[in-house]
Amino acid sequence: MRIFSGMQPSGDLHLGNYLGALRQWVASQNPDAFYCVVDLHALTLPIEPATLARQRTELFATFLAAGLDPEVSTVFFQSDVAYHAQLNWLLECVVSFGELGRMTAFKEKAARAEGYRVGLFTYPVLMAGDILLYETEEVPVGDDQRQHLELCRDAAQRFNHRYGETFRVPRAVVPPVAARVMDLQEPTRKMSKSLSSPLGSIFLVDSPEAIARKVSRAVTDTDGEVRPDRERKPGLTNLLEIFASFEGSPVESVAERYTRYGDLKRDLSELVVSSLAPIRERYSELLAAPEHLAGLAARGAAAAAAVAGPVYQRAARAMGLG
Ligand code: AMP
Ligand code: TRP
Repeated sequence: MRIFSGMQPSGDLHLGNYLGALRQWVASQNPDAFYCVVDLHALTLPIEPATLARQRTELFATFLAAGLDPEVSTVFFQSDVAYHAQLNWLLECVVSFGELGRMTAFKEKAARAEGYRVGLFTYPVLMAGDILLYETEEVPVGDDQRQHLELCRDAAQRFNHRYGETFRVPRAVVPPVAARVMDLQEPTRKMSKSLSSPLGSIFLVDSPEAIARKVSRAVTDTDGEVRPDRERKPGLTNLLEIFASFEGSPVESVAERYTRYGDLKRDLSELVVSSLAPIRERYSELLAAPEHLAGLAARGAAAAAAVAGPVYQRAARAMGLG
């Protein structure tokens, strides 16, 4: 199965990134799968060069620490494969200004960024190119990326219609539970790298103590009944979903086992700590060997370019170039 997905090196990964995306990638990896540190995307918001340089390496290490195996699938940096930037331009001349203006992620980010960059607006075009370059069938992502995937499908179909059959039309694959992990302090808002309150997000690199503190302080409700109800009990439901996702069982079967919030939180905290501990350990080991990481990234980039090159050439020729 041809799979492509990517993540921005814009800060430490949290449980939403892990359960919504990265863990699905690990489960679905195969010789035909491509996982990308989309470092060009990180330039759409202000970021110090030294910070980006550090974070892109850290994200690559996190991918491997979480279980992506470069011996099985292709793991690489977006900026190492120039076809991404090249196809971006061709697609910018296919996608309309109006449809980009409807992207909710853009509207949310633009409202917060004064004098935002053009790249923030055209970001979904670059993303569409990422996916289309690999003749991707499935794109495992969290719920918040659905709209970007629709744009990608529209762009592919329009291109094929206008210039002849060139791109495969991909589909989003969203996990059955934890596709939208919520902030632990404000459970009506999604857990995020930038916006959350200090106790709202659990990061993969958090210490066991920090995890326990965040889970125990998570906002719930006062009716005292352990049952999933996203509308009326968003905080508790979020905890049940995180639990179910780590355990790989239905939300209801977790809820049935508990009568007290405190017991649920205690067990959840243990489950999160024990699930993340091996990742944290491997992560430190990997970061201690930067040459090894660089070698793996170079191999990944070469393998990615071998697939992306012919697709890019085909698209350029279809438009009358080359
Ligand atoms: P980002 O943090 O925007 O780079 O997202 C990287 C991946 O994590 C994407 O596939 C997102 O859909 C997913 N993701 C981000 N936040 C959440 C969340 N709160 N719950 C579930 N998935 C998420
Ligand atoms: N926009 C995605 C996010 O914020 C990151 C991304 C860029 C991506 N290119 C991609 C995800 C291609 C999947 C496929 O999470």
